[in-house]
Amino acid sequence: MKQLTLRKPDDWHVHLRDGESLNFVVPATARQFARAIVMPNLTPPVTTVEHALAYRERILAATDPKLGFEPLMTLYLTDVTDPDTVRQAKASPYVHAVKYYPAGATTNSESGVTKIDNVMGVLETMAEVDLPLLVHGEVTDHGVDIFDREKVFIHDILEPVLQRIPDLRVVFEHITTRDAVEFVTNSNARIGATITPQHLLFDRNDIFKGGIRPHYYCLPILKRSQHRAALLEAATSGNPKFFLGTDSAPHSQASKESSCGCAGIYSAHSAIELYAKVFEAADALDQLEAFASLNGPNFYGLKLNTETITLARETWQLPKELPFTGDDKLIPLLADDTLDWKLVTNHG
Ligand code: NCD
Ligand code: ZN
Repeated sequence: MKQLTLRKPDDWHVHLRDGESLNFVVPATARQFARAIVMPNLTPPVTTVEHALAYRERILAATDPKLGFEPLMTLYLTDVTDPDTVRQAKASPYVHAVKYYPAGATTNSESGVTKIDNVMGVLETMAEVDLPLLVHGEVTDHGVDIFDREKVFIHDILEPVLQRIPDLRVVFEHITTRDAVEFVTNSNARIGATITPQHLLFDRNDIFKGGIRPHYYCLPILKRSQHRAALLEAATSGNPKFFLGTDSAPHSQASKESSCGCAGIYSAHSAIELYAKVFEAADALDQLEAFASLNGPNFYGLKLNTETITLARETWQLPKELPFTGDDKLIPLLADDTLDWKLVTNHG
């Protein structure tokens, strides 16, 4: 196969940051994707519809309008989010979900939920109006091993919440374990999951290959190879519950290559090509369109994109680094390495 034409994909989980950073990262996502679910973990976090709409305008100002990129906004759930905010979000054509970060779980999660009981009323309203809850599914108890935090979250938090509110629509974001794959597979049709390129391509050994490699560090952290195998099987299975979400999370090279490096992997530069690599290696290129372009909009109840993109079978080298704010650089996933598929046309 020399060319691969797909319905234009969407990214159902991306971090675009704010301010000057937008100019460096929004164009990369807008070049590949028609739409993206934009994470609200700014400082301060995006907690109101008003704040989300202003952020949306700043994102749109950072991209070429001809691309027609549509940011799909989300609100950040805190202990004090009220049901009225949920109703306003549902009424807005621009806000599509609410993001739940357990406080302390990851980058900019300090304002997140400290105790799930604090938000049960709000989650009930979300179920009532059918507004999706996007979940960072890791417990924050440091007594729980970092590699077990997702599994424990399913048992301690997610299962009990869904027992109490069975109608809640949930996207289990950036799943990393066989446990999460099984949980989502065995749940009702309102439970879906996103899967990142890094969790499909790598396992935890890649963080320590010949030394410590900060550009492979993200949260949830890479897991054992058998978990990667389960994710690969889920992503390529055609099961409509699983869809593309890069979790592309830009941090400057300096803040990654530090004695306490930030969590987050930047993949927006070549996201669809990275997924093509994964699907080809699994002999499942015919399943890429469902994962990248159909399952997400169907889950969110949004229309399918009508444009297409074309990838060509062509070996090319990813840049070593990309420009970022000031003198900072961004190191993309697989920097300086080669890929065998390249996005060549975007009929968007
Ligand atoms: C994300 C970030 O940098 O905002 N980091 C990451 O490792 N994925 C936050 C998140 O999604 O956990
Ligand atoms: Zn994320």
